[in-house]
Amino acid sequence: MKQDFIALADFSTDTLHGILSTGLAMRERPEEFRDSLKGKTLGMIFRKRSTRTRISFEVGILQLGGHGLVLSPNELQLSRGETIEDTARVLSRYLDAVMIRTFEHEEILELAKYATVPVINGLTDYNHPCQAMADMMTLRRHFGRLEGLKLAYLGDSNNVTVSLLAACLKFGMHMSIVSPPGYTLAPEVLNPFRKEAESLGLQVVLTENVEEGVAGADVVYTDTWTSMGQEDEHEKRLRDLGRYQVDSRVMSLAGPGARFMHCLPAHRGEEVTQEVLDGEASMVWEQAENRLHIQKAILHFLMK
Ligand code: CP
Ligand code: NVA
Repeated sequence: MKQDFIALADFSTDTLHGILSTGLAMRERPEEFRDSLKGKTLGMIFRKRSTRTRISFEVGILQLGGHGLVLSPNELQLSRGETIEDTARVLSRYLDAVMIRTFEHEEILELAKYATVPVINGLTDYNHPCQAMADMMTLRRHFGRLEGLKLAYLGDSNNVTVSLLAACLKFGMHMSIVSPPGYTLAPEVLNPFRKEAESLGLQVVLTENVEEGVAGADVVYTDTWTSMGQEDEHEKRLRDLGRYQVDSRVMSLAGPGARFMHCLPAHRGEEVTQEVLDGEASMVWEQAENRLHIQKAILHFLMK
C-alpha cells in the first residue's frame, strides 16, 4: 500500500520521530544517503508560488540520486479542465511520487485518492506539514528534546498554525495561539485537536492577550498576516493584526532562552521586526535549511 504525506495526524509519534532522526542523520552524514532514491522521479505541482519548498524538494531528490520535475499547472491539461482524478491516474504511470502545493485541501485528498504513488503536501489552505516537520527537527536539534516545550504562535491562525498544532500534540508540546477575534482557528478545525490535547494532558491555550500567550514560552513563532490568496485583505489585516507583531518586547516576555521562529517568507516591520528576525534568538535560517534535510527524509520514508 502506498503511503501519502498529507497531515501529521495520520502518523504515530514514533514514525514522526523516526523521520526527524533520518533528517538529522541526513544533515550530519549526507553521503550515507546518496543514491538511496536512484532512478526515482518526483513530480511537483505548484498552484502557488514557492522558494523554499520548490528548491528544497528539487535539490533534495537530486541529492538522493533521483530526479525532480516541476509541473506548472498552466502547462498541464489540468488548466484546460482535465480532472485531478484523471491527472492522478496518469501521473502515477510515470512518476514515483507527486508533491502538490495548492489552495483547497480537498484537491490534495482527491489527488491522493486516485494516485497509486505517494502524494506529498507542499502546503494547502488548511495545513503545511513539511514545514512543521522542519520546525520540529530544528527544535529537537537545538533543545535536544521536544516533549514539554511550549510554543507560542502569534498573529494570523493559518495553515502553518494548524500543522504546528498537530506537531505539538504529536511531540508532547504545549501551545498557545495568540490572535485577535476573527483570526483564530475555526472551531471545527480546533476542536478535534483540543480533544486530543485534553486526553494527552497537553495545554492548548487560545488567547488575545500577548503577555499571557507568550509567558514561559520556549519558542515564539509567527507567520505572514496575509497568506497566499488573501492579498485583497492586506490593508485590513495590517490594521487588525498590528498589536501582534513580534518585537524585542514580546521576546522579553517569553521564557528564558526563548527562540524565535518563522516559516518565511517574512515581512519585516509587519509580523516581525528586523531586530528580532536578524537577532540572536532567531532560528529562521536553520528552519529554512532543515526544509531540505527533512524533505529528503520524507522522500526516503515514502519512496524507499
Ligand atoms: N516556508 C515555505 O513554505 O516557503 P515557500 O513558500 O518559499 O516554499
Ligand atoms: N501562511 C503562508 C505560508 C507560506 C509558506 C501562506 O499560506 O501563504
